[in-house]
Amino acid sequence: MAMPEWVYIKDIAQYEGQEVELRGWLYNKRSSGKLHFLQVRDGTGTLQCVVFKGDVSAETFALGQDLTQESSVVVQGTVRADTRSPIGFELGVSALHLTQQAHAYPISPKEHGVAFLLDHRHLWLRSSRQQALLRVRSEVIKACRDYFDTRGFTLLDAPIFTPAACEGTTTLFPVDYFDDTVYLTQSGQLYMEAGAMAFGKVYCCGPTFRAEKSKTRRHLTEFWMIEPEVAYCDLDGDMDLAEDFLETVVQRVLTNRQAELQTLERDITKLAQVRKPFPRISYGEAIERLQSTGVDIQWGDDFGGDDETILSEQFDRPVIVHRYPIANKAFYMKTDPQHTTVALCMDVLAPEGYGEIIGGGQREDDLPVLQGKLEAHDLSEEAFSWYLDLRRYGSVPHAGFGMGIERMVTWLCGLHHVRESIPFPRMLERVTP
Ligand code: 4AD
Ligand code: MG
Repeated sequence: MAMPEWVYIKDIAQYEGQEVELRGWLYNKRSSGKLHFLQVRDGTGTLQCVVFKGDVSAETFALGQDLTQESSVVVQGTVRADTRSPIGFELGVSALHLTQQAHAYPISPKEHGVAFLLDHRHLWLRSSRQQALLRVRSEVIKACRDYFDTRGFTLLDAPIFTPAACEGTTTLFPVDYFDDTVYLTQSGQLYMEAGAMAFGKVYCCGPTFRAEKSKTRRHLTEFWMIEPEVAYCDLDGDMDLAEDFLETVVQRVLTNRQAELQTLERDITKLAQVRKPFPRISYGEAIERLQSTGVDIQWGDDFGGDDETILSEQFDRPVIVHRYPIANKAFYMKTDPQHTTVALCMDVLAPEGYGEIIGGGQREDDLPVLQGKLEAHDLSEEAFSWYLDLRRYGSVPHAGFGMGIERMVTWLCGLHHVRESIPFPRMLERVTP
């Protein structure tokens, strides 16, 4: 007799009435006398596999009895329609083969605390909820990359070891580099600026690092950023790009990951509202809005996480806040020629209280002005001489932004904390597993 074909659970509907083989792990089990109901997962889905004593050998029935949670098994049987199944099918088992009998599994279906689950992140990934949200993450990254790939951008990978700070010297991670010290990158931006002068439109997507001593629900020490940079682009063009990009990515995730968002019990009507145009307000107006809700904040203050939450709750879609005070901003930002106390920069705040997901703006393109800004920020001209070359040889207005992948996934999935939005989170107090 021919061996049954190995198939994946996601494709099971194509095999109704046929004998197939599944290769997976035991997710859960229930037995009653002559029947074992095995919930088998294979990474693409979970299927109920029914072992009936009258259909199988005594060994197979005994194996079904003894199988422990997360044991790896190969299951053969016939696919039958079953109206009670969430996916509409079950498997009538004819044979079971044990690949490995699992030791007592630490994660039981009962509730565990987050610290315990994070300690067991390597196993926690097997739960259906974690799989749903990490599939959303996978879709987000693909959607971001497709967005730029299909609009004339060239992918240009930025280095991870960098000689100097991009986002301020207080959040650098130093690394021994032979007899020297280098830093883990905080942002690929400066390299994308070089790329934009070569290719016109470029982007990078990769890990970035910040030694941020903040224990908030929005901060990781290692996070992924997607950063486009465009030559001959000003702040308005940058906001247009961010708006179109966000709408496209959100709507694509909604279309392609409906099942996962449903598993996560996400209210998708809120995401369906993410349509252009987004409201745009200046930092000054944002301050007034905060003050009128009773927040004790003055022009010049940075927004805290709570302030961003209050602002982003005032809109049903992302809001773009532009022209922050230049004093608190990175050295590379261009001063607004109309109002020299503010920078031509912008942040996009996600709705429902999620806060900043994008930061960016127009870059200082004038050589002497940029030299002055380096000095004002106490940064050595020597370390940035290559960057200053970009203003020596054919400088043009240019702009870009960075979107934090984890902040985006956290919002799309409706999570409380950013830690579940990345496979293996790194935070102030966690670098394992
Ligand atoms: O606003 P940031 O610091 O901007 C930059 O790094 C620019 N150089 C980007 C650019 O213009 N090319 O960071 C950009 C985004 C934030 O909006 C946020 O989504 C995310 O990166 N981010 C973090 N995400 C998780 N944990 C952290 N500690 C983060 N810091 C920033
Ligand atoms: Mg920012």
